[in-house]
Amino acid sequence: RTFRIAAIPADGVGEEVVAAGRTVLDALAAGSGGAFAFDWTEFPWGCGYYAETGRMMPADGLEQLRDFDALYFGAVGWPSVPDHISLWGLRLNICQNFDQWANVRPVRFHPGITSPLRKADHTELDWVVVRENSEGEYAGLGGRNLSGRGPGNEVALQTALFTEHGCERIIRFAFDLARQRPRKKVSSVTKSNAQQYGMVLWDEVFERVAADYPDVETESVLVDAMAAKFVLKPEDLSVVVASNLNADILSDLGSALAGSLGLAASANLNPERRFPSMFEPVHGSAPDIAGQGLANPAGALGSAALMLDHFGLPAEATRLRDAIDATAAAGIRTPDVGGTAKTTEITDAVVAELG
Ligand code: NAI
Ligand code: MG
Repeated sequence: RTFRIAAIPADGVGEEVVAAGRTVLDALAAGSGGAFAFDWTEFPWGCGYYAETGRMMPADGLEQLRDFDALYFGAVGWPSVPDHISLWGLRLNICQNFDQWANVRPVRFHPGITSPLRKADHTELDWVVVRENSEGEYAGLGGRNLSGRGPGNEVALQTALFTEHGCERIIRFAFDLARQRPRKKVSSVTKSNAQQYGMVLWDEVFERVAADYPDVETESVLVDAMAAKFVLKPEDLSVVVASNLNADILSDLGSALAGSLGLAASANLNPERRFPSMFEPVHGSAPDIAGQGLANPAGALGSAALMLDHFGLPAEATRLRDAIDATAAAGIRTPDVGGTAKTTEITDAVVAELG
């Protein structure tokens, strides 16, 4: 079967890591003996496109993407465009309109890669952060200039939205995922002592849903305490479910604890499959290293593995993850994880491992 994929490299290192992913996926397909193939269409959207057109993507961009089997995304953002415009104009536009309400972000130790935490002798780090990806703090609700009193007295409001439906579906998703993992545990994260409406609703829904999964261990942890727990007791976590903002922050912390932001993979899923899902590394466009061949492609390649899972090719996904790990373990690593290899050298080594 041929899977039609829309590639949207967008900005900065996004271009380098999406190129790496395409190369590796094409190598997998070439070795499949015709069992599957990938048909790529690349869309040149992002901050460069904005400079030419005043938009991050065309007005009919979502229509152009709608019929693909998946979207493979790089990263969006460049100093020439305010970050809230570039992010809302492209990535959040796609996530929100394609109802990609579940953002799955695995975090684990990788063979051959040390980290501040790993040096401290923790042997286990294998989590999935499940991020509510459609509402919460990133619902886009609020406004500027609400005081009406002009410069110097501005009042801005940024409202977080929590619906019972939105909380329930992401929490159920987390429990269903936990059931498939060696450690059947879900940790729910809020700040419901300080945020007394939406987050208390979340906590109540969590308790109610948990009753349907008596075989899954649970805990509710405040986000500040969870940040500490990530560092101090990582072996005690399996699935961590949190709101949009909290999970965004925690998953960056998680990838740093694993060794680098460049390692972290993610899937923005529309679990009902009414719209295409989107696979992207967790990191941003990294303007500080862009265009120099220094980007670690592991996060983008791990995202490609999540895409293979989504396509119903779990054995291929495992092969790809093993090849990424074997490459790092062989000492072929980018500078962010202590090596000297270029992006393309990692890519070539992963392809060779797959061979
Ligand atoms: P960033 O993730 O781009 O970079 C943070 C640090 O991590 C930098 O030192 C960078 O060099 C390093 N890093 C990131 N990816 C790496 C990789 N693959 N290999 C090696 N090192 C890597 O975050 P930052 O600097 O806050 O944001 C830069 C731009 O990216 C901004 O415009 C921001 O809005 C955007 N952004 C976009 C995201 C997305 O498209 N999903 C997510 C986060 C930020
Ligand atoms: Mg982030």
